[in-house]
Amino acid sequence: MNRSLLASFGVVAVLLTGCDNGNQASTTTTTTDTVVVKIVPAALPDSAAFRDTTGAQATALYILKNGHAQAAVTNYGARLVSLIVPDKTGNPTDVVVGYDNINNYLHQPDTYFGAIVGRYGNRIAKGHFKLNGKQYTLATNDGPNTLHGGKKGFDAGIWTGKQLSDKSLQLFYLSTDGEEGYPGNLQVKVTYTLTDSNTLRVDYEATTDKATVLNITNHSYFNLNGQGSGTINDHVLQLNADAYTPVDSTLIPTGKIEPVAGTPFDFRQPTAIGARINDNNQQLKFGHGYDHNFVLNKSKDSLGLAAIVQGDKSGIVLTVRTDQPGVQFYGGNFMKGTNPIKAGKKDDYRSAFCLETQHYPDSPNEPSFPSTELKPGETFRSSTTFTFATK
Ligand code: GAL
Repeated sequence: MNRSLLASFGVVAVLLTGCDNGNQASTTTTTTDTVVVKIVPAALPDSAAFRDTTGAQATALYILKNGHAQAAVTNYGARLVSLIVPDKTGNPTDVVVGYDNINNYLHQPDTYFGAIVGRYGNRIAKGHFKLNGKQYTLATNDGPNTLHGGKKGFDAGIWTGKQLSDKSLQLFYLSTDGEEGYPGNLQVKVTYTLTDSNTLRVDYEATTDKATVLNITNHSYFNLNGQGSGTINDHVLQLNADAYTPVDSTLIPTGKIEPVAGTPFDFRQPTAIGARINDNNQQLKFGHGYDHNFVLNKSKDSLGLAAIVQGDKSGIVLTVRTDQPGVQFYGGNFMKGTNPIKAGKKDDYRSAFCLETQHYPDSPNEPSFPSTELKPGETFRSSTTFTFATK
């Protein structure tokens, strides 16, 4: 949908602020007292810019469409590159942060934009864990700890893609025995499906030939006003969590599960993300803001409610459901505005949030947390849905 706004206010600045929703390029033509602002609607990146054949396996861009929404996924890290949904006025809005070419994914510092992270999402303390009496040592890549699988996690692997239909894509990855220190050949399958009701569904499956630990999630960075359109601190967030797992200064859980009541971590009622972000709170200091695992309330549904978030400008509402026990709510505290994201934007500080449905960080070292062990002969299955509507 091409929109062109014609106005005779003669005040360019006001018009531009009011019209540029951030994910779109806008061009302006000015006559004496007439300003024409053409908004180019959000579009998927060019597939040709995702073809790279220099490595052992080729990279590509796969497109999913349902008539109202579109998604683009690359087999590099099984990453969600774009997700375009209508805002409250019907304007196509790209709600995930990403690059518009494969080179940036391959060469910019790793931010995990849109990636499937694993073998173990989030942190394992000091890169060590014990399983069935045996000590394992992992690659460390985050101070003393292992983060998101290690130096080369699933986000940096080239997956094998198989498009099943216009709406569904399967991606396969073999994480070999000993990769980054993890035991067992792990076969992973991720299926992305864009349903007719504007839900992006992510189904995970994995099997192993040796006992191992597994925590696999999607690391999309959302801005419901459009990627690159400024702070997410005015988005309104609700989390279905009465408790969270506090961390130490290196973001490793202390092992305690604490109630959110009376803390800035209480999002049980819809609250602006930034409303309490500058409170004098030790946990917010350790996280440099929100970067914590929330313990999801138990649900009778197979996919329980994790979170509801509303974009303050776009009216786009994201509902996240999952069968996982936790969700890492990360508020973009390490975003620095140095990476050139789509539509000529930058990944500015706190201009996106992640809701990583998952097991709790460092579970292999915390016997009281739900187990993340996968044994040979078992099949790990898990699903998360991201549903978009407007209000
Ligand atoms: C999050 C993690 C943050 C940070 C981010 C990537 O999942 O909790 O601490 O590492 O990924 O920059």
